[in-house]
Parts: sequence; structure tokens; C-alpha cells
Amino acid sequence: MLNEADSEIILDVGSGYCKAGFSHEDVPSVVFPTIVGRPISEDVLPGVALDEKFIGNEAKLRKDALTFSAPVRRGIVQNWDEWMGVVDHVLNMEMKIERDDFGIVLPQPTTTNRESLEKIAEMIFEIPKVNRIFLARSAPMALHAFGMTSGLLVSIGHDVSSCVPVLQGNVLEEGIRELNIGGSDITQTLKMLMKEQKPTLSSFRNFFHDDITKAMMERLCYVMVNENRDSRTSPRPRTYSLPTGGTVNLGRERFLAPEILFKPGLFGDTSNAKGLQEICCESIEALRTNKGEEEAKSLCQNVVLVGGTSLLPGIPERLKSELVHLLPWLSENEITVQAPQRRQYAVWRGAAQMASLNSTKSRWTTRQDFEKYGPSVVHRKYL
Ligand SMILES: Nc1ncnc2c1ncn2[C@@H]1O[C@H](COP(=O)(O)OP(=O)(O)OP(=O)(O)O)[C@@H](O)[C@H]1O
Ligand SMILES: [Mg+2]
Repeated sequence: MLNEADSEIILDVGSGYCKAGFSHEDVPSVVFPTIVGRPISEDVLPGVALDEKFIGNEAKLRKDALTFSAPVRRGIVQNWDEWMGVVDHVLNMEMKIERDDFGIVLPQPTTTNRESLEKIAEMIFEIPKVNRIFLARSAPMALHAFGMTSGLLVSIGHDVSSCVPVLQGNVLEEGIRELNIGGSDITQTLKMLMKEQKPTLSSFRNFFHDDITKAMMERLCYVMVNENRDSRTSPRPRTYSLPTGGTVNLGRERFLAPEILFKPGLFGDTSNAKGLQEICCESIEALRTNKGEEEAKSLCQNVVLVGGTSLLPGIPERLKSELVHLLPWLSENEITVQAPQRRQYAVWRGAAQMASLNSTKSRWTTRQDFEKYGPSVVHRKYL
């Protein structure tokens, strides 16, 4: 049994939330919003320099005095200095690592590229006590959390969703599909739909007004299982109590806001983006073309939902019924959409499990490797 002294550090810096902890733990012990705040003006926080950064919950505590930015958007790092600020915050302020040397596992989204991988290695090896890193794709890691090596991983995160076929631990590149919609877009849609009730909410600065809407979204939204039937009904309004007093009522907004996952154009988005069911369908068709119908059928028995936004009730049932409709060569019982427990932490948990496997030992990049061969050494280890 591993303990803290010999376990690895797992760091999943998502667009919305940073998830971190030791590999011997079952779930991440550190979870905070991936936000960076800087003072609005010189005198707003006495004794604090203008370029000082506040990270995650520290930033939230000083919300009225800061301007905010998100170092990661749609899975892509926007500002490396801020990203490193998040990493430092995790290691020094949250986990308070005191060991002389340690390894870090950094699961990577499908959107990552060669430059990002090298930059991560460069930045992380600037931390003197880090002596090895393990960069790996998040999709096989997420499946590993549920004891699986093959499956169609459907991830619905903060601002990006993706569909990734994984066969015996390997990603089928041709089958990767992405959609720039996640929980933050559902929250924005809910906010727009609730504009009638806005006066109650207008006392909050924009960012934290979003925070309240996000909490409402997580608590009260759901996905229609049968759009034709359910869209004609009006659910009993649910009341949400605001943290500062007062209430707002949510009715049809509860299912209309999440509907953008399946119909991105519902409220005027003109980007012609495909819905979640369509990217899944394309991914399965790509698999069928590249690996044959039997392999595609076998993966359709393991369509696995992960990511925080996949917690919305109704998603597994709706996705299954959409796929049955879109894929006539598959019968209803040939598609199984799984929504396992603790799927919001699947990437982190799978990374924690894989970190200590003998079979992944060769995939770590050591400090010696990095110093000898330079940052591009990470590609040799990245599958
Ligand atoms: N119970 C819930 N119901 C619906 N959505 C939820 C729930 N809990 C969290 N979320 C949403 O999940 C999102 C965060 O999920 P996750 O941590 O998987 O994303 P991320 O890794 O930060 O982002 P990404 O993978 O897009 O880079 C947020 O948008 C949040 O509002
Ligand atoms: Mg994520």
C-alpha cells in the first residue's frame, strides 16, 4: 500500500477546475477553480503589489478587489505564466510538498499539441525538486479508472467535450472528435434564459454572478431524455435560494439550457457546431471505417461518460436514444452508455492508478533524460 512519502503527484489542470492530489488517494484532495486574480488597482489591497497573483479559492475570497483570467481555455493553455502560478499554488500552498524529489503526472486533453507538451516539460523541470514527469493522454487514463482498456470515451468538461475511441489503451486518432461546449456554456445559456429575473442577481459582479448561475445549473438542470415528449411539458418550478437572500424560480430553463449540448444552434449560435450525439456518431463511423464493424460494435458496448458536466441527469439515456436513431446498423441493445460513479474525477483517478504501474515506468521522462535530450524527449514517451 502506497503512502504519501512514496506516491506520485497527480495534477489535472482543467479549463474549469484544477484537480490534484497524491496517487495513493482515491479522489483528488485538492480541487479549485482554475482562475487567476490580480489586483484591480494599486491601493485596493494594502501591501499587495499590482502584479501579485491570487489563485483559485484565494482569488475568490478577494473577488471585489481582483480582475480574473482563466489560464486554460477549451483545454489549451492561454498563459504559461499563470498556468505555472496554478502549479506552484498546488505544490506549495495546497499540498505543501516538502519532499526532496518527486514525480508529477499531468494528464493531457485531446487538444494538446507538441509545443504544449514540450513547454510543460520545460516549465515543470524548472521546479528543482521535480525529478520526473509522466505526460499522457487523458482518455485512456479515464477508462483505466473503471478497469477498462477499450471504450468510446465521451468527456463533457467545463468548456469542451470530446469523443475518443480507445482500443487496448491506444487512442484511434482518426476517431477523435471535439465540441467547444461544456458546463460553462450551459451556465451562460441558463443566465441568458433567466434574464427576466436578472434584477435579483444584478448586484453581483459578473464573474460571481456566473458563479451563482453555475451553482443553479449544477443543482437544478437536467437533460431531456425524450426531446419530443419532454419539451412539451413544464416541470414544476424549482426555487433556488440566493446566498445573499432572495430566491429565483427555474422552470423550463432547467432543461432548455443543457439542450445546447445536443443542439448548439438552439439559441442562435451560428457556428454550425455539431451536437454531442453527432460527434459521437462521427467517431463511431470513423472507427467502423478504420477498424471494421465488429470492432465498432464492440466499442459501442462501452460508451463511457466522464467529466463534471456529465453529471447532469438524463445525459446517458438521451445520448443512447440519439445514437440508436443515428446509427441504424446498430440495434438498441448494441449500444451501452455507462455513467460510472465518480466520473467527474475519472481522469485524475485513472492517472493515479496508472502512475504506479510497472507497465508505465518506461513512459516517465526523468530529469536526466530532459537535460540530455532536451524538451523534445517527451514525444518519445507520449503515446
Ligand atoms: N453536478 C453537476 N451537474 C452538472 N455540471 C456539473 C456538476 N458538477 C460540476 N459540473 C460542471 O462540470 C464542469 C467542470 O468539469 P471538469 O472538472 O470535468 O472540467 P475541466 O476538466 O475543468 O474542463 P475541461 O475538461 O473542459 O478542460 C463545470 O463547468 C461545472 O459547472
Ligand atoms: Mg478536464
